[in-house]
Amino acid sequence: MDRTVITGGTPLRGEVQIGGAKNAALPILASTILGGGECVITNVPRVVDVVTMGKLLGILGAKVHYEGNRAVINAAVITSTQAPYDLVKTMRASVLVLGPLLARWGEATVSMPGGCAIGSRPVNLHLAGLAKMGADVSMEHGYIRAKAKRLIGAQIYCDTPTVTGTENLMMAASLAQGTTVIENAAKEPEIVDLANFLMKRGARIDGAGSDVITIEGVRELHGSDHDVIPDRIEAGTYLVAGAITRGTVTLNRCRPNHMDALLMKLREAGVGMQVDKEQIHLNAGSPLKGIDIRTLPYPGFPTDMQAQMVALMTSAEGTSVITETVFESRFMHVEELRRMGADIKVEGNRAVVTGPSRLAGAPVMASDLRASAGLVLAGLAAEGTTEILRVYHLDRGYERMEEKLRGLGATITRHKEGTAPAEIH
Ligand code: UD1
Repeated sequence: MDRTVITGGTPLRGEVQIGGAKNAALPILASTILGGGECVITNVPRVVDVVTMGKLLGILGAKVHYEGNRAVINAAVITSTQAPYDLVKTMRASVLVLGPLLARWGEATVSMPGGCAIGSRPVNLHLAGLAKMGADVSMEHGYIRAKAKRLIGAQIYCDTPTVTGTENLMMAASLAQGTTVIENAAKEPEIVDLANFLMKRGARIDGAGSDVITIEGVRELHGSDHDVIPDRIEAGTYLVAGAITRGTVTLNRCRPNHMDALLMKLREAGVGMQVDKEQIHLNAGSPLKGIDIRTLPYPGFPTDMQAQMVALMTSAEGTSVITETVFESRFMHVEELRRMGADIKVEGNRAVVTGPSRLAGAPVMASDLRASAGLVLAGLAAEGTTEILRVYHLDRGYERMEEKLRGLGATITRHKEGTAPAEIH
């Protein structure tokens, strides 16, 4: 198992380039199977989840070619409509092929995603929406089976805004007969990016980015090019890396207007920032103060930045209360941060952080993608050496993270399985 070893305590300085958004690239790649023409997608992050999506599309019969950050996909022919357990168990977002397969090929069999480290994550709203559009949906031997000659436009209300659920339904509705209205839709920028790609291919979508999306179904979609939006969570993670080490960091090629909640919260904590159209200059400077944060669907504070902010708050003066309202069991990083000397109490869905703590390097275990990022950030700030085990979680969503951090002056290395353990001070 690979390990990441960090020697902390150095303020980060320099510039970092933000890559394409994983959570936009995944639905965009899945949506290529909605039509036959060639799709050329650029600014695709080379992260493991994107590779997994490519494998899945390949299994379905699409021609997939990755070259650096460019993906060329042609799904003129599909040879299977089944997403197997082996892939779905490694990436829940595999469920994004359900809507496109069903809408274009009349059937889909997708392994039911299981539980994961951040709690039970149901897909009932994806299925209820497809059933409302006339699909016959059943569960057989751990697989979701959905069938429909042609989906029919419907009025769908989501009990809770779901990101991949909204994406699945929007993709399916693009080829349905008639008009679909998704109410209480999720409003994340990644949904808008997917809608923009679908519209370039001939889909008729109105209202993406608001909580009511109207889709008028068309007969077919053609191929198109698309440049994926920058990753707001990757950008946020590097901002916190700058803040937690009290450094001076410039993010290039990011979209600050997708990051309002985070930028406001960082400012409230006392982080100095100058924001341009596609750039953020951070000068952490003075001592930070504890703040309260509540995760919410977009445009609220993103749950995918919660672990990083818990890490940051350990270095701030006073008490911070961080409330997680999107996912249950999303405080797996807290126990590990405590082992590094943080003072954090978890009460239900709230983490109460009392700071500042002088973090000390320790061996810690990553439990999920964003929790791993939180531990890396803590390691960058801690005195001495931190060794992060199960670091493969990071590779699912961060492109060349160690290299990018080294570019900012961090002492961080990846040790492949079988190499000598790092000396722990
Ligand atoms: C997506 C993101 C993930 C992010 C999350 C919330 C991708 C690939 N992943 O995940 O990084 O953390 O949004 O911003 O884009 N829910 C139901 N029934 C459903 C679907 C969801 O009850 O059918 C609930 C979930 O349990 C959760 C909430 O809705 O409490 C939001 O989840 P959702 O937006 O669906 O998350 P994902 O799309 O899985």
